[in-house]
Formats: sequence, C-alpha cells, structure tokens
Amino acid sequence: MTDMTTDVLIIGTGPAGSSSAALLSTYGVENMVINRYRWLANTPRAHITNQRTMEVLRDLGRDVEDEAYMFAAEQDLMGENVFCESLVGEEIGRMKSWGTHPLSKAEHLLSSPTFMNDLPQTFMEPLLFKTACQRGTQARMSTEYLSHVQDADGVTTTCLDRLTGKEVTIRSKYLIGADGGNSLVADQIGLPFEGQMGVGGSMNILFKADLTKYVAHRPSVLYWVVQPGADVGGIGMGLVRMVRPWNEWLIVWGYDINQPPPDVDDAFATKVVRDLVGDPDLEVDITSWSTWTVNNYYATHLQKDRVFCMGDAIHRHPPSNGLGSNTSIQDAFNLAWKLAAVLKGQAGEALLDTYSVERAPIAKQIVTRANQSIGEFGPIFEALGLTESNDPETMQKNLEGRCDSTPAAERQREAIREAIAFKKYEFDAHGVEMNQRYKSTAAVTDGQVEPDFALDADLHYQPTTWPGARIPHVWLFDHSGKKHSTLDLAGGGVFTLFTGLGGRSWADAAAKVSEKLGVTIEAHVIGPRQEYVDHTGDWARAREVGDAGCVLTRPDQHVCWRHDAPAGDPEAELTRVLSAVLAK
Ligand code: FDA
Repeated sequence: MTDMTTDVLIIGTGPAGSSSAALLSTYGVENMVINRYRWLANTPRAHITNQRTMEVLRDLGRDVEDEAYMFAAEQDLMGENVFCESLVGEEIGRMKSWGTHPLSKAEHLLSSPTFMNDLPQTFMEPLLFKTACQRGTQARMSTEYLSHVQDADGVTTTCLDRLTGKEVTIRSKYLIGADGGNSLVADQIGLPFEGQMGVGGSMNILFKADLTKYVAHRPSVLYWVVQPGADVGGIGMGLVRMVRPWNEWLIVWGYDINQPPPDVDDAFATKVVRDLVGDPDLEVDITSWSTWTVNNYYATHLQKDRVFCMGDAIHRHPPSNGLGSNTSIQDAFNLAWKLAAVLKGQAGEALLDTYSVERAPIAKQIVTRANQSIGEFGPIFEALGLTESNDPETMQKNLEGRCDSTPAAERQREAIREAIAFKKYEFDAHGVEMNQRYKSTAAVTDGQVEPDFALDADLHYQPTTWPGARIPHVWLFDHSGKKHSTLDLAGGGVFTLFTGLGGRSWADAAAKVSEKLGVTIEAHVIGPRQEYVDHTGDWARAREVGDAGCVLTRPDQHVCWRHDAPAGDPEAELTRVLSAVLAK
C-alpha cells in the first residue's frame, strides 16, 4: 500500500528538479516534486544564464522567458570583468566578457533569439517552480527522500514528512534524482563517477552595500581583486560578485581545503568586504556566510532502470564558466520529452537510455572545462609576480613592477595582457555553452559524418543541421512581416519537420506518419506565400539540405534526421527514422 501515486517523482526543487517538473507538466505528464526544505534557494548561488538555457525557458513559454528577463540584470551590465587591487584601488586589467565584446555580441545575436543575462538562483528557481505548479505539478515541501525500491512496473519511494515526522511512500513509474551535489539517489543507485570531490575550499560572504560609485562606470558581474593574502578556491584572488546592481554582493574567498574551514563572524566578514572594496569605512550589511568545496567529479552513467539523475547530482564542479544551473536545466530538457513520449506510449523504453548516452559526455565536458578554467588563472598570477613568494610584501613589490619603464616591466605588461585575454575560455566561451551535439540512437545520421569545427569549439558556436546538433537559429517571417525563430517553430513538446516548396511531399508524409505513430509532427514548408518565408535567405544558407530536402527536429530542438533531397517514399523514410528515434 502506498500513500500517493504519480507518473514521475522528482527529488529536489533546484534548477534541475523544478525545470523537469515544469517541462513534464507542460507536456501533460503527471509529476510530483519534493524538497526536504520548506524554502527554495535562499542564497543567490548560480547566476550566469546562457542563451541555451534561455531557449529552454522560451520553449516553456514567452511569459516564462519574459519574466526571467524582468528579474535579470541584462547582458550589458555583465561584461567588463575587472582585475584590480581593490574596487577603490588600481585597476590591473579588464576583458569584455559574457558576449559583450562587439564581435562576441554579434555571434550571440546570430546564434539565438535569446539573450544571456544574470539571473540569481533566488529568482530562477521560484520562476521554474511556479511554472511547474501553475501547470499541474504536485509539490511537497518539507519532504525528505530516504530511499527507493524499483520493480518491473515502477518505483516505490520512502520519504520523511518533516511536518508530521512520519514516513510516507510514493509510487511512481519513474524517479528523477535532482537532489544536488550530495545526491543520495545517485549514491543509492550506485552511479559510477570519475574525478575527485573537495579539491578546494571556498567561502561565500553575502552582503548589502551601495558600491555604485566604484562599479557603475565599468559594469560587470565579476570583479577580481588581487591582494597578496587573498585567496579563492585555490586560485589566489578575492572575487566580488554582483548579485543585484549595485547594492547586493557576494564575496567568494578561498581557504586551504587541507585546513578546517575558517571561523567566520560578522567582524571577520566585514573586514574581508572592506579590504576587497578598499574602503575601510564602507557601510556594510552582512547577510550571511557559508563555506563550500570545489569539486571535480562527474558521473559516467546517469541511469539505473527507472531511476535517472541530473544536475549537480551528476556534475559537480566550481562556478567557473557559469555552467552549474545552466547544464542542470539543459539535462532536464533532454530527459523530459523522452519520459513524456514513453509515458504516452509513443516511444519504447529504450529511448530513455539515450539520456545517459547523450548527457554523460556533457557532464564530463563541463566539469573538465570549469576546473581547467581555475587552472588558467595561473598565468595571471605568474605574470603579476605572485607565485615566486608567499610573502605579501614581496608579492606587492612584484605586482607593482609592471609600472616601471624597464624592458622587464614591458615584458611583464605583455604577459599580463596575454594572460587576461586567455581567460576568454572562462568568460566568453560561447562554444561551450552552445555547441552540444548528441550521438545516440535518438539522432539518425544515416552515416553522415559530423562536421569539424572550423573555429575553436570552446569559444565559438558553429551552427549545423547535422543530426544531434541543435537546429540553427535564423529568423523567418510570417505574412505580417513579424519574425519567428526557427527555434520557435521547433520544440513545444513535439517533433517538427522543416522543408522547402520543393519538399511538400515531406510535409504530406509527416501528417500521415504522425497519425500512424500517434506522435505529433508539425510540418513547415518554408517559402514564398507559405506560412513562413525566408526573406533573408538565412534559412537556405543554414539548413545544409536542398529546397526539396527536409530537417526533422526532436521536442528538445535537436535535429534527429535530415535528408538532402526528395525521397522516393517519404512516408516510409519518416516511419523508419521516427521508429528508430522513438525505439518503437
Ligand atoms: P540544487 O543543489 O540546486 O538542488 C537540489 C535540490 O534537492 C534542493 O531543492 C534540495 O533541497 C533538494 N534535496 C537534496 N536532498 C534531498 C532529499 N534527500 N530529499 C528531498 N530533497 C532533497 N553555480 C554557479 O554556476 N555559480 C555560482 O556562483 C554558484 N554558487 C553556488 C553557491 C552555493 C552555496 C551552492 C550550494 C551552489 C552554487 N552553485 C553555483 C551551484 C549551482 O547552484 C548548482 O549548479 C545548481 O543549483 C544545480 O542545480 P540542481 O537542481 O542540480 O541542484
């Protein structure tokens, strides 16, 4: 006898759990989400929100996307990325970040209908959670996951109701462990992990202070303060991070992981803030402090039968590159449509296996990237002369050496410039954010070889309709001249077929296959006098197939098949491909 039933039980209301719930409810799947606490994120945590994540929010609805922008600090306020001796003190260098360099901005604009922004988790999480609840998710706070058992038909989960102190059981067809970096679910299903937990120690100090006069003229989310003696996450700097411009802040301050965490009190926290700002009389309102560890740890397999893990449960890494919450939401976008298709009887259970096949390589990639970014602060310290001694006085002298007029100082200045510019791999890595390509049975390549990256794949997004890649964004136009992204036509929980005027037979076949397989396939014939017109020719340039060919996308906007020309029997071809994708 179980106390409650649902189709999908989700453990955790963080970015991964709340977005899973929102997506499943949007797709019409019964789901329940639980959180052991009675609150959502109560500290800002993740904040950099990249374009791919905004595309997930846009797919949830323009209202959801708009609300995110309403609460976010906009991209133009994000990008100066200052390195300095203190906010009051001398500036050492700067780099344009997060798509604000004019060249990078152009790439952002060409890549997506959405904008990168800074949305602290205290805003993102309620938005996702509210969306889920509005659309039918059953949410239980103060409910702690304890354990589960699974059988051939479902999963029985035991939880502690922290309001009554009693245990409750919940029966579901599937279970998602979105229970964060200490995931009990991942532990209990014995997911294999690689890497190491606890490679560094960091402390967060959250505070309120009006810093407008020090920062508003060089707006940024991150101000890196180089002060001999300061240390953060093993990288040797104090970080002043904007939470809300320009009166709410977070300082990230490192400590030696081999020593116990520092004893913090209000006076210590206030001193750290004043030192890094460089104003001994600054009025500071300390909100809270906490410690966290830097991890380098990822799961190499994400599922055990009916139980899946996602988010920090499977990728644990430092905040570098701002990938934590973004990747968690993107995990959910990958799994949710697959669960919906299986639960609606449209797909075989083997489709669910592709979640791990597609997302485990991403987990490895982003954990590796984030940790590499920490290491890449090294050349900045070397160039500043901070690595040869631990003595703060020697360090300060070396730091000031850059201001001399000697050849050595000139070399030092050049080394500083180069080392700072190289940090684009952390602060402007558009490719890391946008180039995710999947390789599994849910993307049918028919032997077409994956295109190489013409530019650095970490820095630059490269659009392609190669099956497995996300469909390229271009603007198409309706009769009134209003523009619509190709991403707006794709997604929405259904498959979408794009073809040209020469490929009308594909659209006709899509309607028949849709009915035959019981799966919605929206078909769009793009061309003059059609619903959408490619006035600029951008789609013709991006589609990489002929006008009579087609591109088929999955509900998560990734291409699952493309064909260059008309087929002899388009209905048979689409049936073959969809049966493969859906493991029917
Ligand atoms: P998340 O940890 O957000 O959520 C887990 C959920 O599971 C919570 O609701 C929790 O209560 C619930 N839960 C756990 N165990 C449970 C149980 N047994 N029963 C029921 N519920 C349970 N990232 C970044 O990109 N930039 C940053 O600056 C920071 N800073 C930062 C600071 C701090 C203090 C933390 C803790 C984390 C960060 N992060 C971060 C990481 C970022 O917050 C993280 O990547 C995302 O929150 C991951 O989202 P998830 O949903 O996977 O886990």
